[in-house]
Amino acid sequence: MIACDTLVLCLILQLCSADRRFPANFKFGAATSSYQIEGGWNADGKGESAWDSFVHEHVGDIKNCATGDVAADSYHQWREDVRIAAEMGLQFYRFSISWPRVLPSGFTDKINKAGVRYYSDLIDALLAEGIEPVVTLYHWEMPVKIRDLGGWSNPLIADWFGDYARVIFSLYADRVKTWLTINEAISICDYAFTKGHFAPKIKEPVFAPFLCNKHLLLAHATAYRIFEREFRPKFPGRISLANYELWIRPATINDTELAELGRQHSTGRYAHPIFSKTGGWPPSIEKLMLEYSLRQGYQRSRLPPFSTEEVEFIKGTADFYGMNHYTTSLIRPAKPGEGPGIWDVTGSPELNAILESPPDSKYGVSPILPIVPEGIREQLSWLKKEYGDIDILITENGFSTKDYELNDLERTEFFKEYLEQVLLSIKVDNVSVVGYTAWSLIDNFEWLDGYTTKFGLHEVDFSHPNRTRTPRTSAHFLACVIRNNSLDVPDSCYKHKYLADLATQNGSYVARGVLLLDAILIYISFVFR
Ligand code: BGC
Repeated sequence: MIACDTLVLCLILQLCSADRRFPANFKFGAATSSYQIEGGWNADGKGESAWDSFVHEHVGDIKNCATGDVAADSYHQWREDVRIAAEMGLQFYRFSISWPRVLPSGFTDKINKAGVRYYSDLIDALLAEGIEPVVTLYHWEMPVKIRDLGGWSNPLIADWFGDYARVIFSLYADRVKTWLTINEAISICDYAFTKGHFAPKIKEPVFAPFLCNKHLLLAHATAYRIFEREFRPKFPGRISLANYELWIRPATINDTELAELGRQHSTGRYAHPIFSKTGGWPPSIEKLMLEYSLRQGYQRSRLPPFSTEEVEFIKGTADFYGMNHYTTSLIRPAKPGEGPGIWDVTGSPELNAILESPPDSKYGVSPILPIVPEGIREQLSWLKKEYGDIDILITENGFSTKDYELNDLERTEFFKEYLEQVLLSIKVDNVSVVGYTAWSLIDNFEWLDGYTTKFGLHEVDFSHPNRTRTPRTSAHFLACVIRNNSLDVPDSCYKHKYLADLATQNGSYVARGVLLLDAILIYISFVFR
């Protein structure tokens, strides 16, 4: 009888554990971006980017007056990045190329050989370790000359970005098979121009977000079409962009329609033109923007129209869906006199709506990123409902901490909870999620927060000249998940590994002492459990 019960239990357990396995072709990776990690801001002929000039000219705008001048020094320490990625068993590494490191003026008049070699060596080293390079062309490093010519407000940027993309494809398409043109269009267009406190430090919330929205989509599509026409026949590869997806829930049952409008205003404006069957702006937003603009006294919509040719040119320019996801907000109508503020963080004047955090949320350090694991599953299902059964690559998801802390149990829990929801999305909702990218491989320059907010699977010692990288518990955890291709990993696989790392790294008696103390504490908690 006992044997029989045990057998049943074993079968159930096996089923459970089979359920927590990822599909065989599912891939795990981690991401970084050039400005946030490279440093070497003016090394070997690199040109200046809008972020270089922003941090130098507006010193007080960044916490502790930090800059990305050295950052994690990946311009020199990139072999370390490859080593730690390999140690984790990452199947891909998502990094970005700094436009002015390769084209110092932003244009093709001069190609910087040192910059070309830097990325070439990085790609070769990744491939030698069996790690697929996933390359983003633009993670916010606009060459200053292009910024000064109007940046995303100038329609010619579509051609200039296309020229840059062509140079990069011709250099690396023989080895890079997965491309992302632009990271987080909504952060570039809506957040930057409504906040006005982010490079290029222009506050113009009326026209700039919408001009930028249109020109950025044209720039993306230009790069896609160049790849499709000139490179894909010889160098097969897939290409998309990484959109930032805030999942929006109604605050009350009465706000259901508003929530859908909110999703179209955030996700839809950057995805509908590319991923929908019809192309063009989401109809609900096109209508809203026209009516609102006319009411404001303008002669036409502030959301610039697409010509029929432009609709066709942009439509279908993605081979998969790239999704950055961090959080979920509730939406409700603004009360009289309430200022809706910044889209898509606090609200939208166009929608006359306020965004707020779900009550009782847990947080990392970032007050604008409440932790709502179920939100990622809801967002994934919405994408499938809107745009059909397309492959979705989660291109970023991560958790912030502060201070130096190797035993990041909260971040580890975050990854567990979000990955559980991703599994449910794949297995229960039948969404084709093909991979997951943790943000970030290492601590880095977290934009306005400087180095005070840390997203790294690896801690970076910013006081050390080598910017030493050390794995956190979350890195050990993800390494175990990758090895098992399952969320079922024994605690022993990753817990307390950080102490062993410390002991070997320092060889110090202190670390060994901490290790011993920790073992005693585990023993005591076991005895008095
Ligand atoms: C951006 C990253 C940033 C991360 C955490 C994402 O929106 O792509 O550059 O570091 O969020 O704030």
